[in-house]
Amino acid sequence: MYTSQDQQRIFQLSKSILGNTLPSDAAIVAPQLREIIVYADWCYYVENEPVLADAEYDHLFAMLKKIEQDNPLLKTDDSPTQRVAYGISERLPTVAHLVPMLSLDNTYNAEDLNDWAKRCSGIIPEEQIIFCVEPKYDGASISLIYENGKLVRAATRGDGVYGEEITTNVKQIKSIPLSAAFEHSHVHQIEIRGEVVIHKNTFAELNKQRANEGQAPLANPRNAASGTLRMLDPNEVAKRKLSAILYHISDVSIDSGAAKPAALNSHFDSLQWLYSIGFPTPAKELKTFDSIEAVIQYCSEFEGRRDDLPYEIDGLVIKVNSIVQQEKMGMTAHHPRWAVAYKFKARQATSKLLAVEFQVGRTGSVTPVAKVTPVNIGGAMVSSISLFNEDVVREKDIHIGDTVLVERAGDVIPYIVKPLAELREGKEQKIIFPTHCPVCNELLEKPADEAVWRCINIACAAQVVERIIHFCSKDAMDIRGMGESNVQKFFDLGLLKIIPDLYRIDWTKVAQLEGFKEKSIANLQAAIEASKSQHLARVIFGLGIRHVGETTAKNLARSITQLRDFYDWDEEKLKALDDVGPKVAASIVHFFASSENREMIDLLEKNGVNIINIQQHKSTGGTFEGKSLLFTGTLAQMKRSEAEAKAEAKGATLLSGVSSKLNYLVVGEDAGSKLEKAKKLGTVIILSEQEFLELIEA
Ligand code: IVH
Repeated sequence: MYTSQDQQRIFQLSKSILGNTLPSDAAIVAPQLREIIVYADWCYYVENEPVLADAEYDHLFAMLKKIEQDNPLLKTDDSPTQRVAYGISERLPTVAHLVPMLSLDNTYNAEDLNDWAKRCSGIIPEEQIIFCVEPKYDGASISLIYENGKLVRAATRGDGVYGEEITTNVKQIKSIPLSAAFEHSHVHQIEIRGEVVIHKNTFAELNKQRANEGQAPLANPRNAASGTLRMLDPNEVAKRKLSAILYHISDVSIDSGAAKPAALNSHFDSLQWLYSIGFPTPAKELKTFDSIEAVIQYCSEFEGRRDDLPYEIDGLVIKVNSIVQQEKMGMTAHHPRWAVAYKFKARQATSKLLAVEFQVGRTGSVTPVAKVTPVNIGGAMVSSISLFNEDVVREKDIHIGDTVLVERAGDVIPYIVKPLAELREGKEQKIIFPTHCPVCNELLEKPADEAVWRCINIACAAQVVERIIHFCSKDAMDIRGMGESNVQKFFDLGLLKIIPDLYRIDWTKVAQLEGFKEKSIANLQAAIEASKSQHLARVIFGLGIRHVGETTAKNLARSITQLRDFYDWDEEKLKALDDVGPKVAASIVHFFASSENREMIDLLEKNGVNIINIQQHKSTGGTFEGKSLLFTGTLAQMKRSEAEAKAEAKGATLLSGVSSKLNYLVVGEDAGSKLEKAKKLGTVIILSEQEFLELIEA
């Protein structure tokens, strides 16, 4: 969609605006800013290759917003500032689809696919059929209408004939263009369909955050995407970071007298065309085949790779490529004859619910956990499944003894879809929630705005153990070997009572335990020792302050010189930081006001744990001072996170994509598009892992 000249020009434009201290003419700058931001959004959300630093982007965005506020006449409907949420209504209005949104017929094996291909040929005998294959995205389907180049309406599928109008919410999805250059093709109105998905890592992050806030986790990315689209507060939608993939043009009107664009003659070309004008289509994933045998071969290969994609897919979709042929084949009342879904093997299974245990988490939340007869779902054995909270159990009406349908979507934790009530024998029992903590027997409480019951005894053994486990976890202090079982063991023996005890373990006692040989003790000691110099952000995250996740911890660490600085911070000062709202601020103040927590911080420091923001005191002149760096491919000698930490310690700023701002690209095994792009740019210094290590150690 952008030629390299365009890209250069827009990039230079952004640099000159960013570097310009003189006031310029608002009427000139406003469209320039819009062009830069639309381009930056496309790079970031469609291409996954950011071109601007976050701060630069924010600065340009703020400039545009200010200009438009001061000069309302300069504002346009499709300005990126207009993604901003407005108008929260009680419910979503119903709208009629231009063309009914049909579903797809399903196939499950080679035989089904062969049958389908025969049916296709039966309708258009003598004609050669080209098949186009693309992923079947497991999200929520949407319809978008563009009129005169502008996005005017977005709707959910609803019942296929009527959907819910979700235009404002869809505008929060940054990969969906608010306007596009349809005028060159004389397209006056177009309806485009696709799927809204949530990336698996975004989904995991979202659930982590929800757990932190005492909310029940969302069951799977599909439900998360569809629930988010129907939220009444677009600001919340914006926070959920949805993505879209558009895969079908369902209706198009051309200006009278003009010719239909040639790209509309085939499915393949239409998706390439949409992609070329800024739409997130599967242009790069699309494959064409001239025989159903080749399609079948590809389908079976692809199934093994389904988990490599950043989002969930539940199969592939095979479409007849020629639009003329599609029109000849038409549709049944339910689905088009020219397309079919090839569904991957279900990741669902049934099992028996044997019992429910109640587990006490780090923040005292009491979670019901279903114990089921072990069952293999898509290659993983499942025997323990979180039921999240009481409301979920009541809503789904789950009983002990029920046969339950269990689903495991990709990397997502398994969950119970529903009990199979028709299989009940009458002996099933209600799940009874405890009134007291199953570990310390304290009376449980349920805060008004939360869905979970909590044990509020902070000395509760279960919470103490969970807090220590969290402190040692990979994303916190990363003390390998100090997982659930060792922490529990050491706690039970009285070797660990509070977090700082980790740094004064009586190893002579450990040596007497079964299973602890010299080597394993040395490994544990080394991991504990190494954690002392972890970055302050990890210490803050590890402390387990409620509502403080990894990102907030990083922001907090960045704004202080040493941990005790927070003793003097009030809620107002905290709220001025990114990511910190009233709830988070109150929780932080509460944490640092506690004398027990202050003692813990003293003890950590006394035992050698870093509580200083080293980043701020970083000596200048590191190898990579003032340089930007990015890793790609698999590193052989260390983990990506270790390598990044090393680079940062030497002054590097890490970037997330290849752009002309990148100075160094460190290339591991199987490096792909990033390496290609860096080579093409010609300005990036490409380093092997070994060369990087040598520079670091120099
Ligand atoms: S084409 C008229 N292509 O699967 C044909 N659908 O089970 C319209 N879906 O309702 C559908 N990925 O929500 C098509 N690449 C893809 C798809 C896809 C996911 C969804 C879509 C559809 C459902 C049918």
